Amino acid sequence: MKIALGCDHGGLNLKAEIASYLKSQNIEFKDFGTYTEESCDYADIALPVAEAVVAKEFDFGILICGTGIGIGIAANKVPGIRAALCSDTFSAHATREHNDANILTMGERVVGKGLAIDIVKAFLGAEFEGDRHVRRLEKITKIEEKYRNNK
Ligand code: RB5
Repeated sequence: MKIALGCDHGGLNLKAEIASYLKSQNIEFKDFGTYTEESCDYADIALPVAEAVVAKEFDFGILICGTGIGIGIAANKVPGIRAALCSDTFSAHATREHNDANILTMGERVVGKGLAIDIVKAFLGAEFEGDRHVRRLEKITKIEEKYRNNK
C-alpha cells in the first residue's frame, strides 16, 4: 500500500505523527509537504496529492490542516477524488465501505494524536463494499462530468 501524505502549516505536527505511524507499520508513503511552520495555502498541497491519487500513483491520500476542512474541499475539486473529513473511527471505516473514499482528511486542531492514528487504522483497514454504493458513486461521477471543463 502506498500513501500520499500532505498538510499545511496547521497540520504539520499531526502529519509528523502519522508519518511515524506509517513508518512503524512499514507502509510506504511520500510526504508532499509542507515541511515547515511557515504559513502556506492548503490548496497548494491538496492539489498535487489529489492528482497523484487520481493518477493511481498512490492507493490513498492523507491530508491534514487545522480543521481538515479547507484541504478536503480543495482536494474534492479534482475529479475522481472522494476526500472524507473524519474525526471519529466509525466515519473513517464507513467512508471507505460506502463512499470508496480515496483521501482521508483530519484537523490537527480537532483530533488528538491517539484518535488520529486510530482513524488512520480504521480508514486503511476497511474495504469498499460495492453493491448499491457503486450506483451512488456513479451519480457523483456524472455530476463531475456535467461540470468538467477540461482546463
Ligand atoms: C490555517 O490557519 C487554517 O485555516 C487551515 O489549516 C485550515 O484549518 C483550513 O480549513
